[in-house]
Amino acid sequence: MNIPSLKIGNMISEMPIVQGGMGVRVSLSSLAAAVANEGGIGTISSIALGDINATIGEYEKSSREALIREIRKAKKLTSGLLAVNIMEALSNARDLIATAVREGIKIIVVGAGLPLKLPEIVEDDSVNLIPIVSSGRAAGLILRSWDKRYGKTADGFILEGPLAGGHLGFSNEQLDNIDDYSVEKLLPDVLDAVKSYEEKYDKKIPIIVGGGIFDGKDIARMLKLGASGVQMGTRFVCTDECNVSPQFKQAYLEATEDDIEIIKSPVGMPGRAIKNKFLTKVENNGKSRIKCQYKCLSVCNIAKAKYCIAKALLNSWAGDVHNGLIFCGQNAYRIKEVISVKQLFAELCDDLKMA
Ligand SMILES: Cc1cc2nc3c(=O)[nH]c(=O)nc-3n(C[C@H](O)[C@H](O)[C@H](O)COP(=O)(O)O)c2cc1C
Repeated sequence: MNIPSLKIGNMISEMPIVQGGMGVRVSLSSLAAAVANEGGIGTISSIALGDINATIGEYEKSSREALIREIRKAKKLTSGLLAVNIMEALSNARDLIATAVREGIKIIVVGAGLPLKLPEIVEDDSVNLIPIVSSGRAAGLILRSWDKRYGKTADGFILEGPLAGGHLGFSNEQLDNIDDYSVEKLLPDVLDAVKSYEEKYDKKIPIIVGGGIFDGKDIARMLKLGASGVQMGTRFVCTDECNVSPQFKQAYLEATEDDIEIIKSPVGMPGRAIKNKFLTKVENNGKSRIKCQYKCLSVCNIAKAKYCIAKALLNSWAGDVHNGLIFCGQNAYRIKEVISVKQLFAELCDDLKMA
C-alpha cells in the first residue's frame, strides 16, 4: 500500500506511526528524537522523572526540571514531531502539562483516566490534545464534556486495546474475554463516536490505534479498518536509542509467550508485565513497607498498595530487574534482537509497502 501520512491538526507526520509514551523513563529524549527523525511522532514520557525519594514540593520541582531537560535535549536532536505523554492520574499532571506546553510541545497525549479538564489547562489552540481511550464510550464522554464546557473538541484519540503494555483500561473480566475487546472490534465504536464532532467542528479527528501492533502488516490492517495511524510501544523498547538498562531489554529477548501476564498493579488497574522473581516475591510475601513522602499517583492507596510501583519500575529501568517490574506488551516475546530505530522503521516501511 501507499504509506499515508498522519495529520494531527496542522501537523503532518510523514509516517503514520506514533511511538507510545513509556514510563518510567523508558521513552525519553533519545528514543523520541530518533523516532521523529524517521518521520514518526516521538513521545517523551513525563512520569517519575524527578527524585522519588524527595518530599512532594521537591519532587514536583525536580520532575518539572527533568521534563524541561528531556524536551530541550530532544529538540536539539530533531526538528521532527515530538509529543509528551502524561498520566491523568499523576498528582502533578497539571504542572507537567503546563511545562510541556511552555517548552513548545504541540502534541499532548493524556492517558490513565479521563482528561475532562484538559482544555482548561491548555488554552493555546495550536497545541493538539489527544486523550487515550479504550472504548467508544470513553471517547464520547470526553467529546461531550469538552464540547459542553469549553466549546472544544479533541485533536485525535489513541485507542489502546487490551494487548498493550503498561496499565490497561480494561477490567479483569474484560481481559478474560480479550477477543471481545480487540482493537478491531473497538475501532468502529470510536470512529462512530467522533463522527458528529468532526462535522460540528469541521475537522478530521484521527484515531490512532495501539496495542499489539508488531509489524507492517498489522499497521496496514489498522489503516484499512479506518485508523489514521498506529501507536507502538513494545517494539521500541528493544532499540539502541531506548535508554532502559540492557537487563530490561534482555528480559524482553528472553521472555516466552507464557512469561507475559496480566498483573494487578498496586494502583488498582490491571497491567501487563513479564513474570519474574519480583512478581513471585510480591505474590508470596504480600505487602511491603512503602516509604513515600508524596503520592505520585493520586489514585495510589499507600496503606493498601503491595509495593511502590514507581520504585519497582525504576529498579528495572536501572537494571535491577529481579527487584523490579517489567511492563511489556503481549507481543514482547516475538522480539528477537535489539536494533536501531532506523532499522525498525525500514522494516516496518518495507512491510507496509508490500501489504
Ligand atoms: C514499558 C512500557 C511502559 C508504558 N508506559 C506507559 C505510560 O507511562 N503511559 C501510557 O500512556 N502508556 C504507557 N505504555 C503504553 C504505550 O504507550 C503504548 O500505547 C502500548 O505499549 C502499545 O502497545 P504495544 O506495546 O503492544 O505496542 C507503556 C508501554 C510499555 C511497553
